[in-house]
Amino acid sequence: MAEYRYELYMADLKRVTAEEAVRRGHALTACVVTFGCQMNARDSEKLLGILLEAGFEESASEEADLVVINTCTVRENANTRLYGHLGHLNSMKREHPDKIIALCGCMMQEADEVEKIRKKYRFVDIVFGTHNLYQFAELLLRRMTGEKRVIEVWEKEREIVEDLPVRREVPWKSGVNIMFGCNNFCSYCIVPYVRGRERSRAPEEILAEVRRLAADGVIEVMLLGQNVNSYGKTLPEPVSFASLLREVCRVPGIERVRFMTSHPKDLSDELIRVMSEEPKVCPHLHLPLQSGSDRILAKMNRHYTKAGYLALVEKIRAAMPDISLTTDIIVGFPGETEEDFEETMDVVRQVGFDSAFTFIYSPRTGTPAAALPDQVPKETVDERFKRLLDLVQKTGGERSGRELGKTLPVLVEGEDEHCPGRVTGRLGNNVMVHFPGDLSLIGTIVPVKLTDYHGFYYIGERI
Ligand code: 5AD
Ligand code: SF4
Repeated sequence: MAEYRYELYMADLKRVTAEEAVRRGHALTACVVTFGCQMNARDSEKLLGILLEAGFEESASEEADLVVINTCTVRENANTRLYGHLGHLNSMKREHPDKIIALCGCMMQEADEVEKIRKKYRFVDIVFGTHNLYQFAELLLRRMTGEKRVIEVWEKEREIVEDLPVRREVPWKSGVNIMFGCNNFCSYCIVPYVRGRERSRAPEEILAEVRRLAADGVIEVMLLGQNVNSYGKTLPEPVSFASLLREVCRVPGIERVRFMTSHPKDLSDELIRVMSEEPKVCPHLHLPLQSGSDRILAKMNRHYTKAGYLALVEKIRAAMPDISLTTDIIVGFPGETEEDFEETMDVVRQVGFDSAFTFIYSPRTGTPAAALPDQVPKETVDERFKRLLDLVQKTGGERSGRELGKTLPVLVEGEDEHCPGRVTGRLGNNVMVHFPGDLSLIGTIVPVKLTDYHGFYYIGERI
């Protein structure tokens, strides 16, 4: 159970922040920069929640008094980008030595990177990891009350701390963590090492949070877990993800429910049933394929085959013919031959994904795949990547636009930047729609007739 009480530090942090604001002659500003996935985005909302409660003002500019960078390390280029960014922050700090720079997130769970920052990036004031994010108020307080540098990263996960303050990016939708960590150890993936073992939140805690969000005006929630299909298996009283999903749909005020991510190896029939029966569950499923070759899937430790994946897609489409399917694919896993790659292309052709995120394999230190022989030469990978991208665009294009002429609910998200007088929103399957309407519609769901299709978005009219 949660023992840690972040509020114990909050009163002091509030006082110190207020004193510092007087000393600097202005309210302190904070900018939180997020790299990576939805999980990080949700963590950043908690960091910002803590900062606002402490008396900081939110700023979109890195000129702020405090800059927090929430890092990602899933592929090497995420790390490279951080170091580029740090150079820039260093020059800003030279001009404003009072600036506080904090780094957190997945990359800070890698001991080598933290050592590098400790030695070579001495202007960084605070470093913490994914497991002690909830200590942020305490660490910031220590820095602001005289400690020169505060570097504290825990190697292992500890308890789940509930009820941290949160600043949502938008008022009408919110991510909700249902579990943390991952036990799957796909051989290319660093996530289990930086996010720790799987822990599920109690269903009562999740439902209480969803009810609070609904009372606060949220109409769309995205349930977040590295593999939501293993939700609840290790709770004292095991609960399936499908039953949690059904309960979340029961919360009055919640109109749309999404979730991310569902691993093909253990997507249950019960989940397919709940998805098809519950109108609030959005008609979209992200189902990472990674590769279409049985040989590579085995080396990736994915626990399904090409035929198994295709059979699953067939079952899902039989239950929900209109569902949008999206996926993740890695090109150039060690030992991938032309035949292996053609198997991936074949799955893309057969499934016809609505869209796919394609990645070039990036060796991550400490993962089993990074030590494999037969890393594929760069030219070969680049050439395959391009072929895959072309195919994904072609098959995506063939499926898209299929809702043309229908009237569907659209959640309005903002003004159409290119056309004042029009608003922009999303269908349940995430596709964008622009239609004439005023700003009072933002954050509400309205029926819109889809009258025109332009490649990636619809034009419509409100009915
Ligand atoms: N190299 C390339 N892509 C990766 N992913 C995860 N690890 C790696 C890696 N080492 C991709 C997977 C995953 C997505 C979030 O990132 O496709 O589904
Ligand atoms: Fe990484 Fe696999 Fe876990 Fe996803 S399921 S986070 S790809 S190890």
